[in-house]
Amino acid sequence: MICLGVENLSYTYPQGTTVLKEVSFTIQAGSCLGIIGLNGCGKTTLCYCLCGIIPHFYKGAMEGRVLVNGSETREHSLHTMAEEIGIVLQDPNDQLLMPTVEDELAFSLENHRVPRGEMQKRIYRIMDRLGITGLKDEHPHRLSGGEKQLVALAAVLTLDPSIIVFDESLSMLDAQASHKFKAMMKKLKEQQKTLVIVDHTLQAFDLFDQVLVLEKGRVIFHGDGDALRKDREFLKTHQLIM
Ligand SMILES: Nc1ncnc2c1ncn2[C@@H]1O[C@H](COP(=O)(O)OP(=O)(O)OP(=O)(O)O)[C@@H](O)[C@H]1O
Ligand SMILES: [Mg+2]
Repeated sequence: MICLGVENLSYTYPQGTTVLKEVSFTIQAGSCLGIIGLNGCGKTTLCYCLCGIIPHFYKGAMEGRVLVNGSETREHSLHTMAEEIGIVLQDPNDQLLMPTVEDELAFSLENHRVPRGEMQKRIYRIMDRLGITGLKDEHPHRLSGGEKQLVALAAVLTLDPSIIVFDESLSMLDAQASHKFKAMMKKLKEQQKTLVIVDHTLQAFDLFDQVLVLEKGRVIFHGDGDALRKDREFLKTHQLIM
């Protein structure tokens, strides 16, 4: 079953930069798509389109369609879509807004009017799963980069979306934290979540079922990760390896 469909998507920021050009692909439910490409090729912009930040937050000119579990992002609010698709932003500071970790995790649940008892249960279960219960009274902005990523993911998981987008979540982590975070991604996959993992390196390759390579806003490869990994000529030509 297709859970994410991108059809002929082009996007130009309000200032006039066209960042995505006729991007089309689909993702099967429960699979993991890796999106890779050099700095500035449009990965974050594509993530914004997948979860509706574009066109609801950034205006600009969006052509084509993005369908999340059959619903067009253009026609549904960010509030509604958060139950279907969650995103851990490239800079988690942009999504950590509350004075404590526990408040951060309560934020979306309160907005979605989840009853208090159920809310507490969900928050404590997720903090336990991610090993962050000890941080519950901390200010999110005073945490380390790795801890912030975990809190941002925990906040996303409170609404139990079926699709989760990670925008370079591994990039700012050290080897140990990156290993731990990847293990978390693997577990989510085992739980049949659909994952979109953005990276500018190939470090999460073993998780990918399919890979999409972006170059200057266009898809230059979409297919099997193993085939791409073996094609060193292609990877070199497009500067994805040295
Ligand atoms: N808010 C914005 N307004 C105007 N242009 C923007 C905005 N955000 C990004 N851009 C431009 O869009 C292009 C793609 O940026 P984007 O952040 O999507 O790339 P990226 O592949 O995620 O890069 P990185 O690997 O550095 O995170 C860049 O040229 C950037 O300058
Ligand atoms: Mg980016």
